[in-house]
Amino acid sequence: MADAILVTGGAGYIGSHIVAELARAGYRPIVVDNFCNSSPSALPRLSRIAAQEIRCVTADVRDQAALSRVFAGHAIAAVVHCAGLKSVSEGEAQPALYYDNNVGGAIALVDAMAAAGVKRLVFSSSAAVYGQPDRNPVTESAPLRPQSVYGRTKRIVEQLLEDVAASDRSWRIALLRYFNPAGAHASAAIGEAPSGIPNNLVPLLADVAAERRAEIAVYGNDWPTPDGTGVRDYIHVMDLAAGHVAALAYLASTPGVIALNLGTGRGYSVLELIAAFERACGRAIPRRFAPRRPGDVAAYYADPSRAEAVLGVRAHRDIDAICADAWRWRLNRVDD
Ligand code: NAD
Ligand code: UFG
Repeated sequence: MADAILVTGGAGYIGSHIVAELARAGYRPIVVDNFCNSSPSALPRLSRIAAQEIRCVTADVRDQAALSRVFAGHAIAAVVHCAGLKSVSEGEAQPALYYDNNVGGAIALVDAMAAAGVKRLVFSSSAAVYGQPDRNPVTESAPLRPQSVYGRTKRIVEQLLEDVAASDRSWRIALLRYFNPAGAHASAAIGEAPSGIPNNLVPLLADVAAERRAEIAVYGNDWPTPDGTGVRDYIHVMDLAAGHVAALAYLASTPGVIALNLGTGRGYSVLELIAAFERACGRAIPRRFAPRRPGDVAAYYADPSRAEAVLGVRAHRDIDAICADAWRWRLNRVDD
């Protein structure tokens, strides 16, 4: 029987792609999600592309009793913990909600895992734990100075997991620090479906291309970057998902805790992303230069060499693949 892997937040954007990739790798993913930022309608589509019925338990990860029932009912080999709230601006407005959900969820999960004797965990962390980097590319040993409530919740969970691993040598934990995940599954059956106005560049570009939005506001053209616009490390969500599968395999034979950047090592500007999206959709994307967005930084991109060495995987899809897949998903989306 294939190993069962619990994916919290598995109905969401990144979690659903991890579920698809786990199924492809021969695992049996089981989802726990409370659908606070996703829809149950993703599950039948996910089951189709996974070519297996994806079991989903509707529960909040803060509900430790519900989690314990999931562990009691299935022989779970490991957990990928994606459930969490991720909006930087919402976190600033509602800090208690973010600490409760992100930190409280991790505490309940660790307790339920320990009680069930399941001690292999991959955690969805973020480049937000670094805050403003002193230099690029950003390595895992860069200073950890998160500058948002959201980033602090991620760092606190990392610290919790470092302490858990120190207290009991049988834990195996990977802290995966995502840079800018984007794109969608090649089937166009799953992808990012933000409720309300998207926050991130690529889904906004898709909305403009689909004429759901008049133009893209480019936040600043006076940054100290080659073309004056912000530079980020966009990693295709399927490359990100492959990193999780590799991390689970790595943890099967390696105890302790490890932090790994998941990025490509290359930064692209907002204008380069707009040009790539225009190539993908074959249309002009109207844009307007706007003031810098509060809290933004000029440029950051990952040094992914530790993840590549440890996990043996490298992100190979480029921004053209990201934009092509995001565009196909935008055309295929039926939920709005
Ligand atoms: P998402 O909102 O699409 O997915 C998160 C999922 O978790 C959703 O399905 C949501 O319903 C569920 N969820 C949230 N709180 C829950 C709770 N208390 N109990 C049960 N389910 C809950 O977001 P995503 O982009 O897929 O992000 C997944 C993870 O990756 C998050 O932890 C996020 O912080 C992290 N991350 C995302 C990005 C990004 O740019 N998307 C970057 C770095 C890190
Ligand atoms: N941008 C625009 N116009 C827009 C939206 C974004 O010009 O309408 C620019 C931003 O200024 C930035 C780039 O596009 O230069 C990327 O912005 P995103 O909002 O897509 O991504 P961020 O890098 O700001 O944030 C992401 C995640 C956060 C996480 C952060 C650090 O969305 O959750 O990375 O890891 F905290």
